[in-house]
Amino acid sequence: MSSDGDLPVRFYNLLSSQQSFLNEVLAGLTKPQKQIPAKFFYDGRGCELFGAICELPEYYLTRTETAMMQRFAAEMAQLLGAGCLLVEYGSGASRKTRILLEHLLPPVYIPIDIACEQLRASSRDLAQAFPGMQVVAVCADYSEPIVLPECSVTGLKRKAIYFSGSTIGNFTQAETVVFLKRALQLVGPGGAMLVGVDLKKPQAQLDAAYNDSRGVTAEFNLNLLARINRELKGDFRLENFRHRAFYNAKEGRIEMHLESLIAQSVTVQGRRFDFSAGETIHTENSYKYSVSEFQQLARQAGFEPLRAWTDAQQLFSVHYLSASG
Ligand code: AVJ
Repeated sequence: MSSDGDLPVRFYNLLSSQQSFLNEVLAGLTKPQKQIPAKFFYDGRGCELFGAICELPEYYLTRTETAMMQRFAAEMAQLLGAGCLLVEYGSGASRKTRILLEHLLPPVYIPIDIACEQLRASSRDLAQAFPGMQVVAVCADYSEPIVLPECSVTGLKRKAIYFSGSTIGNFTQAETVVFLKRALQLVGPGGAMLVGVDLKKPQAQLDAAYNDSRGVTAEFNLNLLARINRELKGDFRLENFRHRAFYNAKEGRIEMHLESLIAQSVTVQGRRFDFSAGETIHTENSYKYSVSEFQQLARQAGFEPLRAWTDAQQLFSVHYLSASG
């Protein structure tokens, strides 16, 4: 056993207690349109189910972005340059990251994720695979402002953020601009950001990606209720709810909901919530952008969008944003 000082990975847990999960669930269920933030999908089971979603034939996002990384990571690394402190938001299983790291070889890598257990496992694996790289894992909710831990490595040339998977699509446009402004602050002048963004496309293909034939996405959505039952003393009867997902063309987003099949009441830590038949809990938005729509949001936040890659089928995009000016 190595002592703490020898561990290849430093680990920080900046997550506020279960209290905030409870508070956000209670507040969300009190709204006229009931809602629960999508970040709460990712307990252990949720991470496992999301991993399964990424392998589904209908879920083109992960497969397409991974192939794009294989094709373009060398060029991305060239733009980011040597001596990078690389921060990653929503690092998850870090599969796409590996491809970027192989080309970039940053001296410091700081993965940030809300799913602590998965973060521990993936950051340990990466530290082992890249022995020259200091790994500082941070378990945190990056929809809130984050202060990065101190890092002892000297001679760093710039800070950069990697944010893949189109997870940025969970934010509304207004939230995206706020988030990108904070990201700009974090990387500072001369910094950069690499962001994966799902593209707008025919409705049928989007609807299929969130309504897979095996029902994995339905299970992922319903697991949120199971998690509330497990962690917050809820009594949701999962068989009385169903998964719904559809593209809202006017808003340019996939919406996921959990629809109550009957009139019923449910309690969470003793608080009662009434549902009419057909009433829904809105559990996720997944915004889709054309390349120029997303570049517009990046400019609003003060970034300079210098390069955008897309795949041959125009399913997915990766943007290189510069904090130069
Ligand atoms: C992880 C937010 C990118 O929006 O496509 C997948 C989550 N939800 N299937 C997405 C998700 C349903 C995913 N993101």
